[in-house]
Amino acid sequence: MADNVREQDVTDKVVASFETAKDDRFREVMQALVRHAHAFVRETQLTDNEWNSAIEFMTAAGHITTDTRQEFVLLSDVLGISMLTVAVNEADLGGATESTVLGPFFVQDSPEIELGGDIAQGASGEPSWVDGMVTDTDGRPVSGARIEVWEADDDGMYDVQYDDGGLAGRAHLFTDAEGRYRFWGLTPTPYPIPDDGPVGRLLDHAGRSPMRAPHLHFKVTAPGYLPLTTHIFVAGAPYLDSDSVFGVKESLIYPFEGQQADAPTPDGRRPGSTWTSAHFDIVLRRQ
Ligand code: BEZ
Ligand code: FE
Repeated sequence: MADNVREQDVTDKVVASFETAKDDRFREVMQALVRHAHAFVRETQLTDNEWNSAIEFMTAAGHITTDTRQEFVLLSDVLGISMLTVAVNEADLGGATESTVLGPFFVQDSPEIELGGDIAQGASGEPSWVDGMVTDTDGRPVSGARIEVWEADDDGMYDVQYDDGGLAGRAHLFTDAEGRYRFWGLTPTPYPIPDDGPVGRLLDHAGRSPMRAPHLHFKVTAPGYLPLTTHIFVAGAPYLDSDSVFGVKESLIYPFEGQQADAPTPDGRRPGSTWTSAHFDIVLRRQ
């Protein structure tokens, strides 16, 4: 049997082995995975040593993964698979706000704040007033939408990366009857994705930077609407063109207007330092 026939024979047998799967979608995904993985091995003429390195890499990714350190999310993000998944699920936006990566630092049980409250709760950084309105694609306000916001402090660290177990720089709040929301956060600053593990070594080997463009995360949910996972990025900031997880979209870049320390704030608070303000209107798609 010629080599290429023998190779195709292996692929055909493995694809056929999934024919017994009862779940149609599972069968479709697994058979496609086998076909593409086998094509990759053929295209690169992968050696035993190279495949063993890949297995060692995945093993190391498993060992470093904990409840708060998700190396496989990082891998998916730096390979652009997270953003590609976002793209294929966002074909029909109809004017709704674009999505981007969730990242590994979302926490289910964030504290609730009142409208106008402060998400920092001890996280360091320059205060930033963020407000806007949540509407549907026809411009109708969505009241009672749940808005989760989270961000790194000005040392580039999320609360869950510290050992103290405290929550800071994250909260959730609900839109009012007119669909409006407002809160104090921190002016986002650039930070590296965790790069002290296998994914960091992969980036280093490729000569790639781990830095993310400064951003503030949002996850917005409301009954009857599709959930939205997104960020806003700071206009004019570094790394907008080289975000390590390919998360930047033009429509998500917003000015964070610099304000003097003595400039009046929308709620009369005196931050005691310079501060910024950003306005972000959010458009949700109906389910
Ligand atoms: C983040 O923005 O929090 C993030 C996204 C992808 C990888 C690491 C961090
Ligand atoms: Fe982030």
